[in-house]
Amino acid sequence: TFVVTENCIKCKYTDCVEVCPVDCFHEGPNFLVIDPEECIDCTLCEPECPANAIVAEDDLPADQAQFKELNAELSKQWPVITEKKDMLPGAKDWDGRPGKLDYLER
Ligand code: SF4
Ligand code: F3S
Repeated sequence: TFVVTENCIKCKYTDCVEVCPVDCFHEGPNFLVIDPEECIDCTLCEPECPANAIVAEDDLPADQAQFKELNAELSKQWPVITEKKDMLPGAKDWDGRPGKLDYLER
């Protein structure tokens, strides 16, 4: 299973959604998540993210461990997204900033 991690927050480039063969991305206000029950580990999305926010579950850094549960939880609440849309305003400024979890909107 792949996991969307913190650096997606406030960027949401959405390049990832177009390559997923099983439509497992779900969209919130300023973050995307992967449904772990749908992901087939095809790896296609990982290199598509300009923010390098998509990580294999087994490679999650310790400070991103909580995103595994967050993807599972929020994918049950948010609708599926399959078409790319414009990145969020200011995405390039937010890309790479620490502490973005504080800004997660649900
Ligand atoms: Fe979709 Fe493949 Fe990425 Fe899983 S690894 S979220 S199946 S594109
Ligand atoms: Fe987020 Fe990267 Fe997709 S920023 S929306 S995981 S392309």
